Amino acid sequence: MTLKSILLASLASAGLVAADGLNARAQAAGKKYFGTEISTTVMADSSANNIAKNSQDFGQVTCENEMKFDATEPSRGVFSYTNADKIVAQAQASGQIMRCHALVWHSQVPTWLKNGGFDNATMISIMKNHIANVVGHYKGKCYAWDVVNEALNEDGSYRTTDSVWYSAIGPAYIPIAFAAAAAADPAAKLYYNDYNIEKSGSKATGVQNLVKLVKSYGAPIHGVGMQAHLTTGQVGAASQYVSNMQAYVNLGVEVAYTELDIQTPSSSPNFAQQATDFATMVSACKQVSACVGITTWGFTDKYTWISNSYPLIWDTSLQKKAAYNAILNAWSGTAASTTTSSAAAATSTAASGGGSGCTAAKYVQCGGQGYTGCTNCVAGTTCQATNNYYSQCV
Ligand code: G3I
Repeated sequence: MTLKSILLASLASAGLVAADGLNARAQAAGKKYFGTEISTTVMADSSANNIAKNSQDFGQVTCENEMKFDATEPSRGVFSYTNADKIVAQAQASGQIMRCHALVWHSQVPTWLKNGGFDNATMISIMKNHIANVVGHYKGKCYAWDVVNEALNEDGSYRTTDSVWYSAIGPAYIPIAFAAAAAADPAAKLYYNDYNIEKSGSKATGVQNLVKLVKSYGAPIHGVGMQAHLTTGQVGAASQYVSNMQAYVNLGVEVAYTELDIQTPSSSPNFAQQATDFATMVSACKQVSACVGITTWGFTDKYTWISNSYPLIWDTSLQKKAAYNAILNAWSGTAASTTTSSAAAATSTAASGGGSGCTAAKYVQCGGQGYTGCTNCVAGTTCQATNNYYSQCV
């Protein structure tokens, strides 16, 4: 917290200034954050960056590309953190937490790695070394890490030949990566992150199997990140997102929307429907206590990865769109069967296999603020608090 943010918070609590925004409303609804992805490109645009730095709207930040493998280890064993460090420093100065993205992914791997022809043992060693360095560099600064990103095909099977990791190591690369990340920063929440896993179906089932796989190796996994790259008019009802999240939560993990954007064509945008669809996603997260927050993949249509589309909350002139107020209202409105208290969460999860009635394995989370999974530790280990958010069986 900066002096400025502490002062603002004090004035707000004294009723002297209005503390409001996307993040303020999310936190008032019991969530950890509403956040955004940013890049050094956004930081270089002072008008856009002033919006990004406002912790009333964004309590959490993700680097768009700056923490990926090709950015952080451009040559073997040579690590580069300059751009990512700038984003982390700004987030810390603005009172924002980091979700860190992404360690092991088939995409954005450097040429030396892609074309290296490394054997199984060498690839395991390269992966472990990368994770140890990058996670170690940001130790204590990342609320969460996307440890493995997009490992699955649409039918729920593993990506094989298009992944350098699977090709050399097989599916064991996934638990090995989680174990390495846990060793480098035991307090970080370790996530599997993917797209098209927001609703039930083959790929969502594949994610559930992946969570079980990681646990079966004795490695920790704390979260499932649903990217949520969606399309205006195709979002539908919140209930289908709620039930799908609950299926993940029942496995003892938390969930988050990690890259939300809702595309609408720039040639004929439908901003009213887009606002409704953003509100639907907020409502879904609000209804699941283990949904810790929502991150949008950028905040302004001026900077989006999707061509010919206006998928975000501020327009290309940095003016708020209809989605902004729709999100505010969705956080503060009363959703049916909303559960936001941790007591309610513990009760509902206990009924489905979490809570104190089940047992967490060694190195697996067993407690912490907002945690709803198993609180008993396997024999030979005890539940020890690392920080307010994380206790682990050790
Ligand atoms: O940095 C190089 C530059 O040196 C080069 O001249 C230029 C030429 O094309 O490319 C630049 O790299 C680009 C990079 O973004 C940085 O700007 C890549 O081409 C481009 O492919 C890359 O796109 C990123 C994409 O991930 C890569 O898959 C997007 O910005 C980024 O928003 C997007 O983010 C992903 C998440 O990480 C994972 N989930 C999906 C999401 C959207 O695709």
